[in-house]
Amino acid sequence: MSGPKPLSPGGIGSLGSLRHLFKEVCSRNGLACSMEIEEIDKYLPRRSLVAIYRIFQEALTNIVKHSGATQISLSIKKQARKMNFMVADNGRGFDIRSVSQRPAPERGMGLFAIGERTRMLGGCSPDPEPNGSRHQDIVLSHHPSQEGKP
Ligand SMILES: Nc1ncnc2c1ncn2[C@@H]1O[C@H](COP(=O)(O)OP(=O)(O)O)[C@@H](O)[C@H]1O
Ligand SMILES: [Mg+2]
Repeated sequence: MSGPKPLSPGGIGSLGSLRHLFKEVCSRNGLACSMEIEEIDKYLPRRSLVAIYRIFQEALTNIVKHSGATQISLSIKKQARKMNFMVADNGRGFDIRSVSQRPAPERGMGLFAIGERTRMLGGCSPDPEPNGSRHQDIVLSHHPSQEGKP
């Protein structure tokens, strides 16, 4: 008897599992996808990669559920002193400020959880375009070393 297949050999704290998730979401929903993922594994502890996986998982769920998009792109890029994580769709867009002002019963937890995880990583989200952002960006402004892994 065999159990469920693992998401990827590295589990959810690996970039392989993020690639796998992205391809799955695109193929299951008939979305065109493009991704550009630099090998950042060595700069981040596993627990940060798990948090990043969860952030993208929620953002992708929202895109499928709310955006009406036909295309998604995902990029992870390392620069000299920061890392940029971005997911973009070509759907209707949304204004994060007006969403967060909705009364509690209409306000979901997903964007809140993305914000909390971003803060826990010591990262920030640059101000999105008002009236319809289609980009969700997260910037980690330093490279935490892998010391103290996991
Ligand atoms: N990619 C997106 N495109 C359009 N609207 C979005 C997108 N992501 C989030 N939203 C909007 O933000 C709202 C809040 O999202 P979220 O906090 O995840 O809660 P929920 O998904 O449960 O509604 C959504 O209801 C939707 O209106
Ligand atoms: Mg959601």
